[in-house]
Amino acid sequence: MSDFINSFWPIYISVISAAGVFGCLLLLILTARKKVESAEDNTTGHVWDGDLRELNNPMPRWWMWLFVSTVVFATFYLIAYPGMGSYSGQLGWSQVGAYEKEVERAEAELAPLYASYNSMSAEEMSKDSAAMAIGANLFQNNCAQCHSSDARGGKSFPNLTDNDWLWGGNPEQIHATITNGRMGVMPPQAEAIGTPDDVRNLANYVLSLSGSPHDSAKASMGKDKFLVCSACHGPDGKGNQALGAPNLTDDIWLHGWGESLVIDMINNGKTNIMPPQAKENGGKLTPEQVNVLTAYVWSLSNKPNSAN
Ligand code: HEC
Ligand code: HEC
Repeated sequence: MSDFINSFWPIYISVISAAGVFGCLLLLILTARKKVESAEDNTTGHVWDGDLRELNNPMPRWWMWLFVSTVVFATFYLIAYPGMGSYSGQLGWSQVGAYEKEVERAEAELAPLYASYNSMSAEEMSKDSAAMAIGANLFQNNCAQCHSSDARGGKSFPNLTDNDWLWGGNPEQIHATITNGRMGVMPPQAEAIGTPDDVRNLANYVLSLSGSPHDSAKASMGKDKFLVCSACHGPDGKGNQALGAPNLTDDIWLHGWGESLVIDMINNGKTNIMPPQAKENGGKLTPEQVNVLTAYVWSLSNKPNSAN
């Protein structure tokens, strides 16, 4: 694999590397050959401080061999390791390979530790401070970029510390979310509802479900239209975890609230994706890491770490 964007750069680098190494050798040979004119007494004729004279001796042998050995070393190095443009070296070493080996070693080291967690339930693990420390680390490295470092999420990224769940908060459901990811899909509903006024009335009815500020006259006119929504959000608006359809009665808003936002949701719908995190699905986490993370996420809304 080459990281170069075109064939000029590998050649450019190879030429400079080779010229550096063999230029040194050439310089050594040339200077060894050329005899500098010197006076009868083997001095260069330079005199300082009255009687300090510069001798015209050849370089010490040991120094020359040191010099030659660096050239030999460099040659073998460039054959063994990637140093000449896109040539990958006889030993097949690469930064990516070295990194992967390190990860493998770390995983092998941690394997017995993880194995001891495999037999524990999420609840038991949540009481194990070492397991929770690993979980917290994994969370910061893999989840915090979306769910924020305190796991409270943000607009369109759910809060994982409350007891409001799109897809369910028991360990099996959390495990499935982390392993396979989730895709929440609400198709646009405007056509099924009717005129913009109908949509506005319905939006006010939706706001009334959670006691959010709304116009109650409009809300009562919109109530009937909620039938369309109840297919996913349930007849009472309390949501459906099988579909990831949020509870609309709890005043917790994933995508923001207010009349215009709900109208927008009805008109345009929403697709919201959590990418799969398990290695088997293209993510980064081993099954053991998913287990520990499941317990960690579960613990965030279930008596958080107070047991120790
Ligand atoms: C690229 C952003 C992203 C990353 C990374 C990410 N998530 Fe998510 N996650 C989301 C989104 C978006 C949702 C909401 C999906 C939806 O609307 O249905 C979600 C949903 C969830 C849910 C379900 C919440 C509920 O209410 O049911 C859990 C649990 C979860 N994530 C845990 C994690 C964990 C643990 C990690 C790290 C291993 C992680 N997520 C990494 C974006 C992300
Ligand atoms: C096919 C199923 C489906 C139907 C029908 C549906 N919804 Fe949804 N709705 C969803 C899903 C799934 C989400 C969550 C999207 C996500 O993961 O971000 C959602 C999200 C929402 C939200 C955002 C909630 C929040 O916390 O930000 C509102 C508001 C909403 N729906 C209102 C409605 C209304 C009103 C109707 C009827 C006109 C309706 N939905 C019909 C599935 C549906």
